[in-house]
Amino acid sequence: MRIAVTGGSGKLGRTVVRVLREAGNEVFNLDQAPPPGGGPGDVIRIDLTNAGEVADALSGVDDRYESLDAVVHLAAIPAPGQRSNTAIFHNNILSGFNVFEGARKAGIKRIVHASSETVLGLPFDVPPPYIPVDEEYPAQPNSTYSLVKHLEEKMAIELCRWDPELSVTGMRFSNVMLPEDYAAFPSFDDDAMKRKWNLWGYIDARDAGQAIRKALDVRTPGYETFIIANADTVMSRSSASLAAEVFPDVPVTKELGEHETMLSIDKARRLLGYEPEFSWRSPSQEV
Ligand SMILES: NC(=O)c1ccc[n+]([C@@H]2O[C@H](COP(=O)([O-])OP(=O)(O)OC[C@H]3O[C@@H](n4cnc5c(N)ncnc54)[C@H](O)[C@@H]3O)[C@@H](O)[C@H]2O)c1
Repeated sequence: MRIAVTGGSGKLGRTVVRVLREAGNEVFNLDQAPPPGGGPGDVIRIDLTNAGEVADALSGVDDRYESLDAVVHLAAIPAPGQRSNTAIFHNNILSGFNVFEGARKAGIKRIVHASSETVLGLPFDVPPPYIPVDEEYPAQPNSTYSLVKHLEEKMAIELCRWDPELSVTGMRFSNVMLPEDYAAFPSFDDDAMKRKWNLWGYIDARDAGQAIRKALDVRTPGYETFIIANADTVMSRSSASLAAEVFPDVPVTKELGEHETMLSIDKARRLLGYEPEFSWRSPSQEV
C-alpha cells in the first residue's frame, strides 16, 4: 500500500513508519518537522491545521506519490500540559478534521488514527467502573487533550455512516515507550500510586506499529476503536495486588495473570489478531 503517516517524525511515528516500510509498504511522512537527525527526504513538511494544504497533499505530491491507499493519522500535541488547552484544542481538532475530510475527498477508504487511553477516564481520580477496563463503557475524557480524542472518535463514527465503504480505526494507545525508556521502569515499583493514573499500562512503539499494520490489513468498513497496550504492566508486583490496594471497591471481572495488563487488549486480539511481541521485562527479545 501507499500510506501517508502524519506525525511520522514523532516518538511513535518514527517507529510506525519503519514497521510499515518493513512490511513492504511505501510510506510517506507528513509532518511539520523532520525526524531528529533526518534529512529533507524523510518528511513532506505540512501544517495539518491548514485544510487546503492537507487536501492537496492527500491527493498527491509531485515526485512522491500520485495517490494514497491509506492514511495513518498520528500527528498531535500528544498530552495535556504541553501547550495551553486552547492551543491543544485548535491544533488537534483541526488536524483531525482536515485529515479525515481530506482523505474522504481524495477517495481514501482506510484511515487509522491515534486516539488515547485517556478517554477511558485517566487519571482515574474517579475509579474505573471495573478492571480490566475495556471499550464497552462510555468515554470519560477529563482534559481538553482527551476531549479532542473523544470528539475525533465521534467524528469518525459519523463519517463512516456517511460512507459505508470507509474504514476508520481508532487506536486508544497506552503510554508510548521506546526500548530506551525501560531503564526507568524499576523506579515505579516503590509506590503503587506513581503509575496508578493509567492502571500501570504502557505500549511499546513497535507493538503499536504492529497494531496499526494489522488494522490496515483487516480493513473492515465502519468504525472500531481498540485499546492498544502491552500484555503486561510496568510493575514487578502482581496486578491483582495493585488493583486490591489502589482500587479496593472496583470489581475485578476476571482472574488476572501475574502481571496481566489492566487495559484490556482482548478486543484487539480478537478482531485484529494483535499480539504484543515486546515487554520491558525482556526488552531485546520478543515474549
Ligand atoms: N506518547 C504517548 O504516550 C501517547 C499515548 C497515547 C496516544 N498518543 C497519541 O499518539 C500520537 C503520537 O504521539 P507521539 O508521542 O509520537 O507525539 P510526538 O509529539 O512525539 O509526535 C507528534 C508529531 O506530530 C507533529 N505535529 C503536531 N501537530 C502538527 C501539525 N499541526 N502539523 C504537522 N505536524 C504536526 C509533530 O511535529 C510531531 O512530529 C498522538 O496523536 C498522541 O496524542 C500518544
